[in-house]
Amino acid sequence: MSVAVIGSINTDVTTYGVALPRLGETVMGKNYAIELGGKGANQAAAAARLGAEVEFVGRVGADAFGELALAHLCEFGVSTRYATKDKEAATGIAIIGVDAQGQNAITIIPGANMRLGEKELTDALPALDKAKVLMLQLEIPIPTCLAAARAARERGVVVVLDPAPAPLGPLPEELYPLIDVITPNETEAEVLLGFRPRTLDEASRAAREFIERGAHSAIVTLGSRGAFLARSKIRGDLPEGPLAPFAVEPVSTVAAGDCFNAGLAVALAEGRDLMEAARFACACGALCVTRPGSAASAPQRKEVEELLARAA
Ligand code: RIB
Repeated sequence: MSVAVIGSINTDVTTYGVALPRLGETVMGKNYAIELGGKGANQAAAAARLGAEVEFVGRVGADAFGELALAHLCEFGVSTRYATKDKEAATGIAIIGVDAQGQNAITIIPGANMRLGEKELTDALPALDKAKVLMLQLEIPIPTCLAAARAARERGVVVVLDPAPAPLGPLPEELYPLIDVITPNETEAEVLLGFRPRTLDEASRAAREFIERGAHSAIVTLGSRGAFLARSKIRGDLPEGPLAPFAVEPVSTVAAGDCFNAGLAVALAEGRDLMEAARFACACGALCVTRPGSAASAPQRKEVEELLARAA
């Protein structure tokens, strides 16, 4: 079972403290970590930890951070044969603050991620030839995402788009019909749709709007309030509806969405139905928030299965 990720890779500099600084404020933190991050790399690492064979397509700078980030990704068991180095741009960096409630604030300097273009994608197309699922996010150029989604659809590969971070403008209209599952959180849904879903009813409305735009299915996630899955009726009357949250003690929400998407992609690549895959994904996201770290916070398969069994 094989998953491809075309996306970002960063070095994360993460501080942990009681509170995030307000504008103009300096606060004392407790500790910090420098580690592998980037939504693409986190999703690739999490999928590999769940047992998938993973190809990562991304771009780092020709610098020490890039070397380290790729080496870390390899340690997760991810293939980086289609990751490239850019002599003109630095490896992406994310500066992350995490407070005592596990909430985070992130600033990204994308660097080489934004130079992942048509040439790199063309060279990496063999990664799609054997993939069952492609995972995309929005920390690389949107035209590259669009071309990748198109190439995946031509090959019958399932396309999962995590529209994160929320784009500055609308997504290209032609992207939506290429997406099998779009997985926005409430902020991303708000930016893309113009209203913020805060309840499961509102998440259901938001999910339907993504389907009206052409996505085949949509899972709108609300963090500790659960998620809502809606599906296009064109393919029949398939199960859809709310997904209950798993109650966990939050330590850090960083990469929760990445673990959710990785769980979803792995379960779909294994041939599970979307509703079941979404439940598996929710368990992955929930476990991620119980520990610090970016890529490092990805759960093991056994933990996910135990959490699902306890909740059954
Ligand atoms: O989703 C979390 C990730 O967002 C971090 O690892 C950071 O690098 C940013 O890409």
